[in-house]
Amino acid sequence: MKNTTLTQDVEPAKTDPRIKLITAKIKKENYKPDALIEILHTAQNAYGYLPMNVLKFITKALHLPPSRVYSTVTFYHFFSLKSKGEHTCLVCTGTACYVKGAQLILNEIEKQFGLKPGQVTADNKLGVSVARCIGACGLAPAVVLDEEVHAKVSAEEIVNSINAKIAVQ
Ligand code: FES
Repeated sequence: MKNTTLTQDVEPAKTDPRIKLITAKIKKENYKPDALIEILHTAQNAYGYLPMNVLKFITKALHLPPSRVYSTVTFYHFFSLKSKGEHTCLVCTGTACYVKGAQLILNEIEKQFGLKPGQVTADNKLGVSVARCIGACGLAPAVVLDEEVHAKVSAEEIVNSINAKIAVQ
């Protein structure tokens, strides 16, 4: 299992596969401000929500006023600015990850923590969500636990990692 720590603080790391995915989408849309909603969809599908530093990255790339991006995000109910839970577990269920066992990972998470995608524990310590593709298909199955990408991970490994995270408070 390989772990890659991703920077959340200021700018998102350019090595983050999810940022590469968003960058590719922005280029595909030719940096058109009109493509903002589609780009935000790509970002939310990759992160499970819209982190502030990612919104800033998109704002800068499209040369838009931050107020326009923020008002778009808050206008549509399907966009979320907050992750669910103190710790977040984002399981990629895109084709490559699905073929390599993403469903087994989700099944094990449900068995161990009683959580289905979109749910959070009663104490708000853990939230589970799914992504359609986080742009790291060569590392399938991939799971992002907080800001760490867990590549080629087994169900047992990710459950152990979650337990370690939850235990440290
Ligand atoms: S399908 Fe999981 S990273 Fe692309």
